[in-house]
Amino acid sequence: MRSEAEGRVRQLRALIEQANHAYYVLDAPTIPDAEYDRLFWELQALEAEYPDLASADSPTRRVGGRPLAAFAPVRHRVPMLSIRTETDTTEAGAIAFDARVRKELGLSELDPPVEYAAELKFDGLAMSLRYERGILVQAATRGDGETGEDVTQNIRTVHAIPLRLNTDAPPEVLEVRGEVYMRRDDFERYNAKQRALGKATLVNPRNGAAGSIRQLDPAIAAQRPLSFYCYGIGETVGWDLPATHGAVLDALAGLGLPVSAERVAGPGSATLLAFHRAIEARRDSLPFDIDGVVYKVNRLDLQRELGFVAREPRWAVAHKYPAQEELTTVEAIEVQVGRTGAITPVARLKPVFVGGVTVTNATLHNEDEVRRKDVRVGDTVIVRRAGDVIPEVVAVVLERRPMRDLVTPLNDVFELPKSCPECGAPVVRIEGEAIARCTNGLSCPAQRKQAIIHFAGRRAMDIEGLGDKLVEQLVDKGLVATPADLYGLAAEPVAALERMAEKSAANLIAAIAASRGRDLNRFIFALGIRNVGEQTAKDLARHFGRLDAVMAADEAALLEVPDVGPVVAESILAFFAELHNRAVIERLRAAGAWQDGEARLAGTGHLAGKTFVLTGTLPSLSRDRAKALIEAAGGKVAGSVSKKTDFVVAGADPGSKLAKAGELGITTLDEGQLLALLQQ
Ligand code: IVH
Repeated sequence: MRSEAEGRVRQLRALIEQANHAYYVLDAPTIPDAEYDRLFWELQALEAEYPDLASADSPTRRVGGRPLAAFAPVRHRVPMLSIRTETDTTEAGAIAFDARVRKELGLSELDPPVEYAAELKFDGLAMSLRYERGILVQAATRGDGETGEDVTQNIRTVHAIPLRLNTDAPPEVLEVRGEVYMRRDDFERYNAKQRALGKATLVNPRNGAAGSIRQLDPAIAAQRPLSFYCYGIGETVGWDLPATHGAVLDALAGLGLPVSAERVAGPGSATLLAFHRAIEARRDSLPFDIDGVVYKVNRLDLQRELGFVAREPRWAVAHKYPAQEELTTVEAIEVQVGRTGAITPVARLKPVFVGGVTVTNATLHNEDEVRRKDVRVGDTVIVRRAGDVIPEVVAVVLERRPMRDLVTPLNDVFELPKSCPECGAPVVRIEGEAIARCTNGLSCPAQRKQAIIHFAGRRAMDIEGLGDKLVEQLVDKGLVATPADLYGLAAEPVAALERMAEKSAANLIAAIAASRGRDLNRFIFALGIRNVGEQTAKDLARHFGRLDAVMAADEAALLEVPDVGPVVAESILAFFAELHNRAVIERLRAAGAWQDGEARLAGTGHLAGKTFVLTGTLPSLSRDRAKALIEAAGGKVAGSVSKKTDFVVAGADPGSKLAKAGELGITTLDEGQLLALLQQ
């Protein structure tokens, strides 16, 4: 047992050191953070279990890597420490932290709750900024915590960092600690620009930030869009130290330093839990990446009392969220044919749990992306899934590429097929476009299937029970080739399909029948015209009133519709120019699939100019239906209550919007009153 543990400890130390070096020194991480954490925790656990295996040079005894020789070393007068990561990613983590703090402070259950500060855990590069008499004199990375690297030249290029503090009475010395990071939009813009120039792109925002700061050439660093947030202080001389962490951050903000507004202070673990939950819900809509939240004891005197254990403060802890990046292997690279014929390479992956779900496929976007990332079958890759975004392959871990591929480098290199894998028609890629397409249009079964799936979708014709699998069978069996065929479908052959029976077939036929007479806007959206989304479909329906008018419109007429530009107009003209599409539409007309409305130029109708906000559950109207009725009468539906709101329509369990309406003195309506207003 012990000898086994000894071998594993040695192996773990080597793996962690290797990862540390790649991350901190080379800025080229080889494994995702979650994997690193697991290795680190395993080593910590083994060292705790077998204390005689502990050693002074174990990676558990230090913070990061060694500084690069090329930057001048900077000795930190106050060490730059790391913080402990709460291993329990559930909310129990906050409770455990509170319990430890209370125990260390010798508090009993009768004592009042400890006050905490909670803030974001920014995902970038730790930085120390030294201001002497209000002037930025030095910027240093963390390095190994004792000695970092002098990156002052590069830091001066970060616009968010003031070169001079905003005060007439600056402290003798003020060392500010914080995180250099890259916003997601800046990252995307930078990569788009690089791609257009055929230059190297950044793997993710964190690498972008770290790599830019550790650029030896400040001119290159200057081109990288970086940001900065403060989260603490180091050495101070002649500065009136506030009493709490929150007040320190307020004071820094007062001096002109960037401090995130996403922070709270309050009593006990309840404060921490509420913050953890609130931020998790908004994680994907923040403008930058975070990998968790940080909890700190708010009072600085209590922080001093708690002190440090090893090299981590007892008064702070990082509470992470489930990782959005993980490692897995590529089992195959295949292509998928979309509704508009777009051919998308997809990596089939060994199943991996990431971003809260098990992922088996990840998009590789297009041919150029596969080439650029050099993804091959058998590779170990970093997969990212954030929010509801389609999972993607971020990068290949080249160190783990199987030997045979290193020897025969062209083995398994991806080639876009010359013909469509579904129908055999030629695949073309128009000069200057990233996407290759099957040229067969709706004669391609894959495009046909996608077109029908889209047609039946909830926001389109809303045919209940007509899902992907069923459409696939209907098309493969030759029962349906276009959306128009749906309305001629008989129950019998449907009942004979896999996983179908008489009852389910009858239900499907009934659902198809019930979709007849849908509003024009839904029908236009259901057609799946390229570049025509739900909103454009609504705009077209409202503007023209009848489908025939949309079909007859020339470019000039289309451009009169709000928000329709030349690209969208071109797509609409191209769609209706196809004889095949016109033939399908005539059959859908005969089936009574849609109902024309009144042409109404925007802003007319008896509720024109009125803004509504919906909250809670109405007794009979769905939210979509209520919105459609209000819009049909010329009104607008907004998401939040403001002074511009005219009516708040409230149902059961209304949210804070109802209270806000009360505060602002806005008229509230129940469903009955809304319907009466609509009928006036
Ligand atoms: S406090 C002594 N607060 O996370 C406490 N760190 O190991 C020092 N980080 O690389 C750290 N956001 O750069 C603190 N709000 C925050 C943070 C934060 C990100 C980073 C820090 C360090 C790591 C902590």
